[in-house]
Amino acid sequence: MQIEKKEFKPLIVAFCCNWCSYAGADLAGSGRMSYPAEVKIIRVPCSCRVNPAFILRAFQRGADGVILCGCHPGDCHYSTGNYYARRRMTLLFGMLDYLGIEKERTRVEWVSAAEGAKFASVMNDFVSKIVSLGENKRLEDLRCKEQK
Ligand code: FES
Repeated sequence: MQIEKKEFKPLIVAFCCNWCSYAGADLAGSGRMSYPAEVKIIRVPCSCRVNPAFILRAFQRGADGVILCGCHPGDCHYSTGNYYARRRMTLLFGMLDYLGIEKERTRVEWVSAAEGAKFASVMNDFVSKIVSLGENKRLEDLRCKEQK
């Protein structure tokens, strides 16, 4: 009997700011640009709303990759929100390094409302990177694992 190897389908969490990146995702959808269904979007008012603890929590809850998308620097609708987000993410990258978690599992991207194609290509690229890294096992909380 041959055991079939299951294809790895990563769980990707994408935090998108309401004003630019979410609109970019919407544009990708309405323009029929495809990106993997494994990407689960969480809409936030601004990229600065994302506390680095949310990202660690997503990893604990079984996410294989987490991406933060916001308006381009200088275009934030709350003027400086994305600068704060960028600074916090830089600190988080350093901490992930310290914890021994591949920092490629997180990414920050600036996507405007007019960049549907960029949104789709960023997601396709990020998902293929996570597929090559494999499952996230280091930060996963086994209590949160789905019972099969
Ligand atoms: Fe988009 Fe602040 S509103 S990053």
